Amino acid sequence: MKHIPVLLNAVLDTLGDINNRTIVDCTFGAGGYSRAFLEHGANVIAFDRDTNVMADADILKQKYGDKFRFINAPFSEITLLNPNEFDDVVFDLGISSMQIDNAERGFSFRFDAPLDMRMDVRNATTASDLIQNLSETQLADILYEYGDIKQSHRYAKILKQNLPTTTFQLRDLIKNPNDIAPVFQALRIAVNDEMGQIKSALNFLHDSLRPDGICICVTFHSIEDRIVKNTFRKWSEAAGDPRLPNIGLAEYKLLHTVKPSITETTNNPRARSAHMRGVKKI
Ligand SMILES: C[S@@+](CC[C@H](N)C(=O)[O-])C[C@H]1O[C@@H](n2cnc3c(N)ncnc32)[C@H](O)[C@@H]1O
Repeated sequence: MKHIPVLLNAVLDTLGDINNRTIVDCTFGAGGYSRAFLEHGANVIAFDRDTNVMADADILKQKYGDKFRFINAPFSEITLLNPNEFDDVVFDLGISSMQIDNAERGFSFRFDAPLDMRMDVRNATTASDLIQNLSETQLADILYEYGDIKQSHRYAKILKQNLPTTTFQLRDLIKNPNDIAPVFQALRIAVNDEMGQIKSALNFLHDSLRPDGICICVTFHSIEDRIVKNTFRKWSEAAGDPRLPNIGLAEYKLLHTVKPSITETTNNPRARSAHMRGVKKI
């Protein structure tokens, strides 16, 4: 299934007038956000580390020429951009419908496939390699930290004893059905260093965003949402009261948080857990 952009209207409303601004779309996916930014007159620099999205990126390149630039790399490479090159930055985190629905990528426990889960297949380490290479304690830490799994030590032991190499082998080792999705999520986050990616990009942006620049993150689970929420809160509290951003010395103003409407989640169940958070540099 083609990816349906999540919270796109909220993102556009929050950005305001983007005509002639340059927006970094850190997570191109099917290009739903990038296309909308271009249609509203913005220039776009888009990142995605999945090589499979190149065809969609080429279509936008043909249509918009120099107004659109695509970088097939992790968005932590935003640090290589000159801060003068962009105004606003948007992250729509996690994986796309194309990635989860493509059986052979190994993201989903609905299909039997090699236990892969790499967003970028040029990277060496698959989920199966990770289970093989990490110690039981390291594996337990990942399950606990990225999946909130209470029985993390028990599952880590089972995984190390059985070394699953397919999605169904992994699924069948998780006896409590409620733990299957969290175990898959935890391994995916670890394989793709998702928390390291967002932390390093945000770390760069704190100093690099221009005055008036907006940074928006759409998150899909509590672990990444917590990082974004705490980071934005810290930025807005750095030198003042976040409720009085314009009279203090705070460098950032917190923008409103948006969750999808019932209409959006009915039309697109994958939007269910989404949260949009934003900050504006003063
Ligand atoms: C939820 S989808 C984005 C969908 C997009 N907003 C749209 O409307 O089509 C997330 C995309 O971001 C990419 N991605 C996730 N983390 C990334 C990272 N650290 N660097 C580059 N791309 C990343 C994934 O490969 C995936 O294609």
